[in-house]
Amino acid sequence: MSASLATASLPGIYPLISHRDPLQKRTGLDNLGMGYTEHGEQFMLKPGGRLGTAEFVGARVADACGIPACQPTVVTIETLTGQEQVFGSRIESGVQKFDQSSPAQWQAVLKNCHNVSAFSALLAVDLVLGNDDRHWNNWLVQALPDASGMVSYRLRAMDFSRSWPVRHPAQHPQQHASYNTWRATRDWPILGAYFDEKVFFATCAKISALPAKWLRRSVLAELTGVFLTDAEADSYCLWWEHHLQAQVIETIHSLEHGVRP
Ligand SMILES: Nc1ncnc2c1ncn2[C@@H]1O[C@H](COP(=O)(O)OP(=O)(O)O)[C@@H](O)[C@H]1O
Ligand SMILES: [Mg+2]
Repeated sequence: MSASLATASLPGIYPLISHRDPLQKRTGLDNLGMGYTEHGEQFMLKPGGRLGTAEFVGARVADACGIPACQPTVVTIETLTGQEQVFGSRIESGVQKFDQSSPAQWQAVLKNCHNVSAFSALLAVDLVLGNDDRHWNNWLVQALPDASGMVSYRLRAMDFSRSWPVRHPAQHPQQHASYNTWRATRDWPILGAYFDEKVFFATCAKISALPAKWLRRSVLAELTGVFLTDAEADSYCLWWEHHLQAQVIETIHSLEHGVRP
């Protein structure tokens, strides 16, 4: 984070990470490991900046479309050079741990999953935001036991680290640098998921109804001066205002012209 951003941020309003465990780093290069507050709250940490902004944008767009997402948070960590604000994904309860590269284990989960349509809805979000990294480990599965002890599952979106505005402007839906998002759609039928056209189109409509004002007020305002400068926020809002509709149209087009799951 630049010095101007660090001094512009307000101290004391973000959860303070009192203990970090970088060894509890789960996967990606940018992952800073787990962070814990004095009262035992847990966050999976990543840098702020564009990456933290992308995590917020993805989660907020998912929320606005009715797709469960992880809760993006700004948290404060201590570094050698003082306090720094970074991204924290508030750790969810009831996470179902299983081998997310195993088709058989996904089949068992999806048989009792109450929101399988999240795959089709999030595909719309990912393509619009140019997120090329929706592989099978970038879904969070929560176990929901009912009163009789029967377990059902909920899918929750997580990890928008390679999503707009990390790549600004957003990647074209048919020209992704990584094939992960599209490749995963090919596995859907094998794993018990399916393409729900109605959900996909309804989600596209919801995204295109989100105005630039929404992006500024509901997402970027709390990050400006923390993860991004005024000039960056302006540039992201300009892209949203002038290119979001075209990106939604390209997203629909990409499904209608051959690459459909
Ligand atoms: N909110 C959360 N609740 C529980 N576990 C989480 C949460 N966010 C991330 N994780 C765990 O951390 C792992 C890495 O998170 P992810 O956002 O995919 O980061 P990376 O960029 O390192 O892949 C996930 O696979 C998941 O196991
Ligand atoms: Mg990941």
